[in-house]
Amino acid sequence: MKIGVLASGRGSNFQSIIDSIESGYIPASVVVLITDNPRAFSIERANKQGIESRVMHPGSYPSRDEYFRAITSELKKREVELVVLAGFMRIVGRPLIEAYPNRVMNIHPALLPSFPGLHGQKQANDYAVKISGCTVHFVDEGMDTGPIIIQAAVSVHDDDTEESLSERILKLEHKIFPEAIKLFCEDRIEMQGRRVVIKGAAFDDRPLISPQPGAGLP
Ligand code: GRF
Repeated sequence: MKIGVLASGRGSNFQSIIDSIESGYIPASVVVLITDNPRAFSIERANKQGIESRVMHPGSYPSRDEYFRAITSELKKREVELVVLAGFMRIVGRPLIEAYPNRVMNIHPALLPSFPGLHGQKQANDYAVKISGCTVHFVDEGMDTGPIIIQAAVSVHDDDTEESLSERILKLEHKIFPEAIKLFCEDRIEMQGRRVVIKGAAFDDRPLISPQPGAGLP
């Protein structure tokens, strides 16, 4: 399976994917990194791994559609089968989604459909929910609205800051993103309408209650 990664920044999720491929957990290879940011640390991660990287800035294209058409053509040229958004800070344009239906994956740092868009962790912390987490989903034309593949939950603590909550969520991102990609590469994902069915999946019905009942009582 050939993967193309789109990333705008530090690329810790990109790294978790690289590591999972290196260890043999994901049966795939990343054939190209495309970034909209020439200073993205992701470029260094790609270089270190011998992965080709390309900087493509939307400002160099006459329209958003043209930009995503150009990205799509770079991906197709390299026979990319799965597109992974690893901290790509733009809404994906129609040409890419049409070329890769249910083949573009994104990770979002909140339990969708709550807190879509930017700063999902800050939104959850400000709202003061008791449980938040992260979501891997396929990308459609909306903002974080596509079919959900995997979610993972964490407790939100009373003294959390955006940073402390983000850190806890990020650890889970680095688990579930490689997991979702692995499932895709092993052809274990089946679409039933907007429900993503994972063949052979197991479920854990133990509740996550946050805070723990009785916590702090003598
Ligand atoms: C992550 O929090 C991810 O959920 C969001 O953007 C951030 C990217 O971080 N989509 P990194 O570049 O992978 O470290």
